[in-house]
Amino acid sequence: MYADRIKYLPPYLFAAIDQAKQEARARGVDVIDLSVGDPDLPTPPHIVEALSRAACIPENHQYPSYEGKLSFRKAVADWYNETFRVELNPKTEVLALIGSKEGIAHAPMAFINPGDVALVPDPAYPVYRTAVTFAGGTPYIMPLLRENGFLPDLDAIDKDTARKAKLIFLNYPNNPTAASADRSFFEELVDFARDNEIIVMHDNPYSEVYFDGKRSMSIFEVDGAKDVAVEFHSLSKTYNMTGWRAGAVVGNADVVAGIGKIKSNIDSGNFGAVQDAGIVALKSPQSVIDEMRKVYQHRINILYDCLIKLGFELQKPRATLYLWSFVGGDSVAFCKRLLEETGIVATPGVGFGQYGEGYIRFSITQPTERIEAAVERLEKFRP
Ligand code: MLT
Repeated sequence: MYADRIKYLPPYLFAAIDQAKQEARARGVDVIDLSVGDPDLPTPPHIVEALSRAACIPENHQYPSYEGKLSFRKAVADWYNETFRVELNPKTEVLALIGSKEGIAHAPMAFINPGDVALVPDPAYPVYRTAVTFAGGTPYIMPLLRENGFLPDLDAIDKDTARKAKLIFLNYPNNPTAASADRSFFEELVDFARDNEIIVMHDNPYSEVYFDGKRSMSIFEVDGAKDVAVEFHSLSKTYNMTGWRAGAVVGNADVVAGIGKIKSNIDSGNFGAVQDAGIVALKSPQSVIDEMRKVYQHRINILYDCLIKLGFELQKPRATLYLWSFVGGDSVAFCKRLLEETGIVATPGVGFGQYGEGYIRFSITQPTERIEAAVERLEKFRP
């Protein structure tokens, strides 16, 4: 019955984990879910109120525009300017998305012909590889290894493959490894893309979830990046809006137009009221995000100290919602035993690709007292 493109596809990572959680809950386990990066903190009330108001506007009850309201795209451009000092033309260089996952999943269809190569990191957000495969492309895996700071080694990609590749997916601050990339890496990436005529698709949803006052970069802070790149951004992690499905892709106008052409043939745009509330979110006072960072930093500290005491090997994250811990061996078996013995759900690294094997990922998107409870349980756990 099923097409080949889904016949051999395993269930979506977090859908499979949902199943394991439900089974444990049905057995009466008090589950502490540190798997998916889904912020527990509520969307700030001023954004929710803006949605209520916008939901009453009749214009929002009709089809939205395909590319997003110009007012929303302007707000995204203004936010980029304020946050990264990057200029974007809201008319041609910003496209509204129904959450960045949607844009990432559709983007390769605009650029990949059957058999074309796309460079995909591993471990990584599973959607990059699936999106390339759905478009008929062949993913070329770039291992993200601890000894390279979980950055891909662009020099290790053979010249033929690099020349053939149509696009490259990357994501820093990185999910799942929590690694950050510095300016020199982005410069190298832009040069590599220009030399090989590759489109860079940089996924940047965690740019605001950084610690110790050290902001993460947009790729557009590098000269010439707009010639080769687009960046996906999302309101999900910055304003606790995962449920709202609001994001944007910005950058190279031709690439943005290509993604827009695919989307206009598939969806009818994002609910206008969500875009209106998104504008309010993007104009939020900085204190809203500062508060969120403080909460996350505290949780990271608690869980990191505990994991180090237990003998897990990990770097303290400078950004993201994740702790990426080396446990060695079979990560699925490890997570199963962790769930059975402690009721804690972590994500097995192999779910992010073969180079994630041996690692497990903890997310800090549970209330602080639940993270403290997890620490108490972990203290009795023998890894
Ligand atoms: C994750 O847990 O990896 C993310 O929350 C998934 C997502 O952003 O869709």
